[in-house]
Amino acid sequence: MTYTPAEDRYSKMIYRRCGKSGVQLPAISLGLWHNFGHDTPHQVKRDICRTAFDHGITHFDLANNYGPPPGSAEEAFGEILKTDFAGYRDELIISSKAGYLMWNGPYGEWGSRKSVIASCDQSLKRMGLDYVDIFYSHRFDPDTPLEETMTALDHIVRSGRAQYVGISSYNSQRTREAYAILKSLGTPLLIHQPSYNILNRWVEHDGLKETLAELGVGSIAFTPLAQGILTKKYLSGIPQDSRAAQGKSLDPATITERALASVRALDDLAQARGQTLAQMALAWVLRDGGITTALIGASRPEQVIDCAGAIQNLQFTPDELAAIDRIAREEEINLWAKSSAE
Ligand SMILES: NC(=O)c1ccc[n+]([C@@H]2O[C@H](COP(=O)([O-])OP(=O)(O)OC[C@H]3O[C@@H](n4cnc5c(N)ncnc54)[C@H](OP(=O)(O)O)[C@@H]3O)[C@@H](O)[C@H]2O)c1
Repeated sequence: MTYTPAEDRYSKMIYRRCGKSGVQLPAISLGLWHNFGHDTPHQVKRDICRTAFDHGITHFDLANNYGPPPGSAEEAFGEILKTDFAGYRDELIISSKAGYLMWNGPYGEWGSRKSVIASCDQSLKRMGLDYVDIFYSHRFDPDTPLEETMTALDHIVRSGRAQYVGISSYNSQRTREAYAILKSLGTPLLIHQPSYNILNRWVEHDGLKETLAELGVGSIAFTPLAQGILTKKYLSGIPQDSRAAQGKSLDPATITERALASVRALDDLAQARGQTLAQMALAWVLRDGGITTALIGASRPEQVIDCAGAIQNLQFTPDELAAIDRIAREEEINLWAKSSAE
């Protein structure tokens, strides 16, 4: 059936300026890391994307390796662009990334010019796009000069493959270095993509939030729901249809009794605020304007609707924030810590 986006979509979302750029991003963005590979029916992917757009979510985040198999999420999204979003390209911000293992041999990962530009070309082909809006260095490469990786990003913009560039999981110091190189090349650093949620606060300890504010760079926080831990789904065990049951990126061993005790108490607080726990977790990430947008994942459309509802209450009292800090200790869930330690 032909898809017509909801006419009132732009009244259902708020848009926040990405750093000091001209770009505004929806407060909630959708990532296609999981649930967009060959293990998910195509109709589910279409329904998730349509629901997102119907709720004003204009930003879709991908990477070369999203699947499984790697590349299949971009292929699926390319199909959706043709069947559902044709005619709406200029309403969308589409991103992709290079840096993690994508193909065999020495050029299939990391940050060489050879790898980054080839990967970008492959992503464009899979999605059937002339350009992406944002292209990222997915992780800092300790063995390649940062100048080389940043010059490759600059080239990607100058050659029309991307409108803007970003970096992901770079620590504060590397971010400053990347920012300075890009600035000297004349391609500003638009955005940083770090992991961040109530149970994983490395961006605060590292000073990255302050760095980005000082530099005027925007930010998009990934895993804002701690891959689903910051919802009610694991409170009575591990559901069959959940990410933790799939043997993927969420190790059930990280969902400890201590974490669940925090989640229960956070859920009580969320209820008192008139929100679901997922909504409160997203509002917390967005609370002080330091993060431009919260980048969620979803396995079904209802989750997107619930998450989009977070924008109804983004304010916290000092008492609520203090209660969250008291309740929730950090958990060992930052899979990207190694990258940001380099
Ligand atoms: N730059 C990087 O290195 C990097 C790394 C990781 C992710 N990312 C990006 O960040 C995106 C989001 O990551 P993520 O998927 O881990 O984020 P997340 O939002 O923390 O977790 C998403 C999962 O939470 C559950 N969920 C979502 N909304 C829910 C709701 N309202 N109620 C109950 N459960 C809900 C679903 O789990 P179930 O599947 O169990 O239903 C969903 O798959 C990725 O798609 C990707 O674009 C980037």
